[in-house]
Amino acid sequence: MSRVLITGVSAGLGRSLAELYMKKAQVYGVSRRRPGLPQIIHQCIDLADLETVAAKLGMLVKNIDALDVVILNAAHMGVVEDLKDTSVDLLREVMAVNVWSNKIICDTLFQQGIHVAQIIAISSGMAENTCRGGNGYALSKLALNRMMAMYALEQQQTHFCTISPGIIDTAMQEYLQEHKGHEKFPILAQLQQAKDQGMMQSPDHVAQRIVGCQSQFLHYPSGSFVSLKEVEECY
Ligand SMILES: NC(=O)c1ccc[n+]([C@@H]2O[C@H](COP(=O)([O-])OP(=O)(O)OC[C@H]3O[C@@H](n4cnc5c(N)ncnc54)[C@H](OP(=O)(O)O)[C@@H]3O)[C@@H](O)[C@H]2O)c1
Repeated sequence: MSRVLITGVSAGLGRSLAELYMKKAQVYGVSRRRPGLPQIIHQCIDLADLETVAAKLGMLVKNIDALDVVILNAAHMGVVEDLKDTSVDLLREVMAVNVWSNKIICDTLFQQGIHVAQIIAISSGMAENTCRGGNGYALSKLALNRMMAMYALEQQQTHFCTISPGIIDTAMQEYLQEHKGHEKFPILAQLQQAKDQGMMQSPDHVAQRIVGCQSQFLHYPSGSFVSLKEVEECY
């Protein structure tokens, strides 16, 4: 039976991915809240608490020698506001969850001698498009893309990619929908428009698309950043 590790399995896209993969694989899941999915082997980890991540993840994967896929999905949205109004403490927390915890996860798996065939990190279009209010989230996703590209050079037995999944109707979007300041932050108006026009995808739908493209990602050079839409159009 294949094995899949997914972070952020308690809600949103990660939960949908876990529900889909658990039909055909043993899923190992990470999040602070328990997902209530008895079929998956779950470990509560606060990915912002970097000192504890390696030890807790190590316990979760202690009897595993190989993983077919690792999906680095958990993320912290931070806040939509100007950088000048944002504390370094908040930026540090967003970077911890969205970037450094993923470094610790990768390092722990490699140090434990676990063979990992494929790592898919969930990034965002905001990594590449500078938008006002994108703030620590956008910075962290850009750093995530570059970090995965660096790992691709170091760990040639593993295929890495970062993907932009498009807009998904999850708690993250609820926060953005409720946020005031559409004039100052045009990204909010764009997201509202997407919601009003029914352009937001359900997390189940996006999970199906990602699982459907899992082998297609391997056609791209390891370390690539790709949009899910582009992969579907090309293959
Ligand atoms: N929603 C969108 O429109 C959209 C668009 C582009 C990219 N993305 C990306 O897609 C991925 C999934 O987003 P989503 O919309 O599904 O988010 P979501 O609904 O907010 O879910 C986030 C998941 O991450 C986990 N998480 C957050 N902080 C954590 C922490 N400190 N420690 C451990 N786990 C933590 C949460 O679990 P706990 O709270 O239980 O810890 C939850 O399971 C993210 O990487 C996001 O950046 C989303």
